[in-house]
Amino acid sequence: MNILVTGCYGQLGTELQKVAVDYGSHQWFFTDIDTLDICDLNAVERYFAANGIEVCINCAAYTAVDKAEDEPDLAAKVNVEAAKNLAECCQRHNALLIHVSTDYVFDGHGTLPYRESDATGPTSVYGQTKLDGEQAVIQTGCRYCIVRTAWLYSSTGKNFVKTMLMLGDTKDEINVVNDQKGCPTWASDLANAIDKLVEKYGKEPVHETFHFTNEGQITWYDFACAIMEIGGKHCKVSPIATDQYPTKAKRPAYSVLDLNKIKAFTGMEIPFWRDSLEKCIEEINKKTK
Ligand SMILES: NC(=O)c1ccc[n+]([C@@H]2O[C@H](COP(=O)([O-])OP(=O)(O)OC[C@H]3O[C@@H](n4cnc5c(N)ncnc54)[C@H](OP(=O)(O)O)[C@@H]3O)[C@@H](O)[C@H]2O)c1
Repeated sequence: MNILVTGCYGQLGTELQKVAVDYGSHQWFFTDIDTLDICDLNAVERYFAANGIEVCINCAAYTAVDKAEDEPDLAAKVNVEAAKNLAECCQRHNALLIHVSTDYVFDGHGTLPYRESDATGPTSVYGQTKLDGEQAVIQTGCRYCIVRTAWLYSSTGKNFVKTMLMLGDTKDEINVVNDQKGCPTWASDLANAIDKLVEKYGKEPVHETFHFTNEGQITWYDFACAIMEIGGKHCKVSPIATDQYPTKAKRPAYSVLDLNKIKAFTGMEIPFWRDSLEKCIEEINKKTK
């Protein structure tokens, strides 16, 4: 199959490049804003036509959660209009769109893991644009798998794990929020899950939303403690409440995603969050040696 990946320099896009090397039975087309701006519908249409695209994996997004509160139009342009551009081209070319979304589509008042069918209610501009993007994709009628994920990290880009490791080297003590619960996702695991969706649904008339994170549920404080421990950092981590760490965008207090659907539909096994964290930190350590 001819597979287009957008936003290929981001955390997830970079991991998909590794998947493509490992299992190279398809023709992969990796693009980012410098080679294919997904806000440009004509450029996207030309790209699909010229390369016979059969699957599009949309890793491109406006992901600056707090900045989005001040730039709602720009966030909507990338997360809604551009997602619609890709979906329209997929519809015209009968291609499958794998579109990545977020736990921030939920309001965070839940106490049980969120299922795909649960009511949404974003509390931030970023969350609202990602939900609008999902709906724009669905409305085009294209073949799609929407994959909601959360707390994404990898050895590249800016993320919580790399920030904590850096703080572990430069601070003796830090405070981390202990009343927001979710589950981290190693981008490498998500890339492998997406690859399985491509294999299963690449040519199928699929219209499904899935949840994918690593297994388990923790707070940001738990996550920070584990990062310091595995990373061998001697920095004390103290738990604080959300109101002691004000941010421009409101975060969901509870955003654990139920993983049963993707496991049942694909038979995949999902790694436990701590096992994946250990692998990612090992990768980061190798890079910095
Ligand atoms: N990061 C998280 O914690 C998290 C959590 C839940 C869900 N997600 C979702 O997971 C997906 C992947 O996230 P990520 O962390 O890998 O994102 P990322 O690292 O921010 O990468 C996004 C990539 O998209 C590119 N991009 C932005 N606008 C574009 C455009 N108009 N055309 C083409 N490319 C464009 C970005 O380029 P620039 O860097 O130049 O802007 C960047 O390379 C996104 O859909 C995100 O919403 C992320």
